[in-house]
Amino acid sequence: MTLADKRVLLIVGGGIAAYKCLDLIRRLRERGAKVTPVMTKAAGEFVTPLSVGALSGVKVYGDLFDRDDEQDVGHIRLARGADLVILAPASATRMGKMAAGIGDDLAGAILLATRAPVLLAPAMNPAMWTHPATRRSLATLKGDGLHFVGPNRGEMAESGEAGEGRMAEPLEIVAAAEAILGAGQGPLAGRHVLVTSGPTHEPIDPVRYIANRSSGRQGHAIAASLARLGAKVTLVSGPVALPDPSGVTTVHVETAREMLAAVEAALPADAAVFVAAVADWRTDGDAAHKIKKTAAGPPALHLVENPDILRTVGTGARRPRLVVGFAAETRDLLTNAAAKLERKGADLIVANDVSGDVMGGEANTVRLVSREGVEEWPTLPKGEVADRLALDIARRLAASGEA
Ligand code: CTP
Repeated sequence: MTLADKRVLLIVGGGIAAYKCLDLIRRLRERGAKVTPVMTKAAGEFVTPLSVGALSGVKVYGDLFDRDDEQDVGHIRLARGADLVILAPASATRMGKMAAGIGDDLAGAILLATRAPVLLAPAMNPAMWTHPATRRSLATLKGDGLHFVGPNRGEMAESGEAGEGRMAEPLEIVAAAEAILGAGQGPLAGRHVLVTSGPTHEPIDPVRYIANRSSGRQGHAIAASLARLGAKVTLVSGPVALPDPSGVTTVHVETAREMLAAVEAALPADAAVFVAAVADWRTDGDAAHKIKKTAAGPPALHLVENPDILRTVGTGARRPRLVVGFAAETRDLLTNAAAKLERKGADLIVANDVSGDVMGGEANTVRLVSREGVEEWPTLPKGEVADRLALDIARRLAASGEA
């Protein structure tokens, strides 16, 4: 009962995705939430107050000027009595009105009057979602501290068009709500998640090493996001210039072999996310002393293969229920990612094209490759990729637990 006694005011907005709110109400109530539904006028074109009321088991509010409710300034009462306000689906028009502070119906008045956290699940045509006006609304609303979940990429219900604009699934909205209300209990409470991050350094001699450009930003952000969802997180990090994320147990290592040992020591885990850019090779043998320049010319480095940490864990006896790998590719992204999924025994590969400045950069464009197919995400700051992935992990763990 992750939402026991939480008072959730659910504003059902206008849009074809409103039908998903029926399932959302059920999912929220299953977790102990008390759901008070409000329907906008447009929502009534897509779902009926009868079905919304039947699923929530309480009165459905709809009209700002309801003679019975407005006597005690109903919208203020509704706004004050909530621990969380969810608006789903949030249309471009509604987002525009909210950004401008317009409250010309009950939903708008509540959204202005509430001091509770507000979670929006946008849903609209991809062209509307990418329109500069919607971008402005989104930036303003994020600046105001509102929370967002989705939209996802996929086919639109009404037009069959593919693109970003599909409303997040009910369980994703629930996970976001849990994260907001969680205060250390979140959807990953009681789960142990292992994360590897950063590069590894493979010594050539006491002063030189083989390394790569990984900054550890993405892996560290994922560890922090998972912890915010309530998970106990062990982060095994190669050498990076980042602070240890708060609320996370960080183990520092240098080489691939040390990383594998630390990962194995941290098992068992419910999920493991392998973000580290592990050096594939190390030099053979141990140069105890600095290699000197000689007249014979440059030394030949003989390389041997490092252990594949993801594969060792993904195909091992103590395999976590959910294994997530990353695939950094500069070409044939999807083919290579799908091959890695099989070869390494992963459930999910987060594939990113590193031909740009991803390594060390601030943003990331990823695709999620699983046995169910490929999900494309837009280019996002690494922190947002991390939040989304953490929610996705929570959802997948919950789903595999129910199965
Ligand atoms: N990985 C690992 N241990 C290694 C190499 C990679 O755990 N020794 C993990 C990475 O953390 C990542 C995934 O495997 O999650 C894919 O890494 P990548 O470097 O893209 O794959 P490689 O196995 O090196 O494959 P290739 O060289 O063919 O690209």
